Amino acid sequence: MAKALVQGASRGLGLQFCRHILERSPSAAVVATCRNPEEATQLKLLKSSYPNNLRILQIDVTREDHVQLAAASVKDDLGSLDLLINSAGILHPSKRGETSLKDVTAHGLEATFRTNTLGPMIMAKYFSPLLLKGQGAFGLTDRDKPHKGIIVNISAKVGSITDNGLGGWYSYRLSKTALNMATKNLSIELGRGKNKVICVSFHPGTVDSDLSRPYHKGVPEGKLFSVEHSVNLLMNNINNLKLENSGQFLNWDGTQLPY
Ligand SMILES: NC(=O)c1ccc[n+]([C@@H]2O[C@H](COP(=O)([O-])OP(=O)(O)OC[C@H]3O[C@@H](n4cnc5c(N)ncnc54)[C@H](OP(=O)(O)O)[C@@H]3O)[C@@H](O)[C@H]2O)c1
Repeated sequence: MAKALVQGASRGLGLQFCRHILERSPSAAVVATCRNPEEATQLKLLKSSYPNNLRILQIDVTREDHVQLAAASVKDDLGSLDLLINSAGILHPSKRGETSLKDVTAHGLEATFRTNTLGPMIMAKYFSPLLLKGQGAFGLTDRDKPHKGIIVNISAKVGSITDNGLGGWYSYRLSKTALNMATKNLSIELGRGKNKVICVSFHPGTVDSDLSRPYHKGVPEGKLFSVEHSVNLLMNNINNLKLENSGQFLNWDGTQLPY
């Protein structure tokens, strides 16, 4: 039985990751976490179609106590995990990226970091013991270099220092660059022992979700992915991951992005 936890699953990519796994793996156990389970209408609807396979838990990723409680609950319930997807993210608390330095505020930087960077780190801290006990149900099992679990951090291409030609979006860019460093650091620590966890960052493409909605008009024709299309591509990549990919920053087409 494949066991996955998707964090930030109330809507957008996170919700679609849950749907994708449940539709394709009838025996999978999926834990979907979100900050307001009562208000997560679409997630509750999905639960009604998969009452035995989908479990909803509360995690506001800025709350370490939520993460700790949820990890204890998943440990009691499932004992291990094969896949953790950290999907929750914000562009900025104002929903608009900064266009110049005058827009930058300590509050904006802090709030964006707390969700986009600190959240996935704290998730890794509490859920890595369960991933180290996984069965390698996702990714390509390699007899010589087996892995137990996978951590996927949903990052963004704008977090690439090398690729940054436009500037702006200070809070979001910085938070995703730092998230990529977290991925790299995690890949080293969780790749050392006998049991290993693959850790990667993925850019999902520019996706038709609430996060990017204010900027859709500027996206060239055919370049705006539906959440279904993006998740199809990402899950295909996740199912092909090997230990040698650990620490990489990957694009939706599986190619490596520069840090
Ligand atoms: N859309 C794009 O074009 C694009 C491009 C590159 C990267 N990404 C990345 O893809 C990921 C998913 O974004 P999306 O496009 O699916 O955005 P979205 O539709 O706006 O969804 C964002 C999700 O994050 C959750 N969230 C925000 N703050 C949270 C917190 N403190 N605790 C728990 N959950 C929280 C939201 O929950 P609530 O419902 O409770 O608000 C929602 O489920 C993000 O990491 C984003 O940076 C997106």
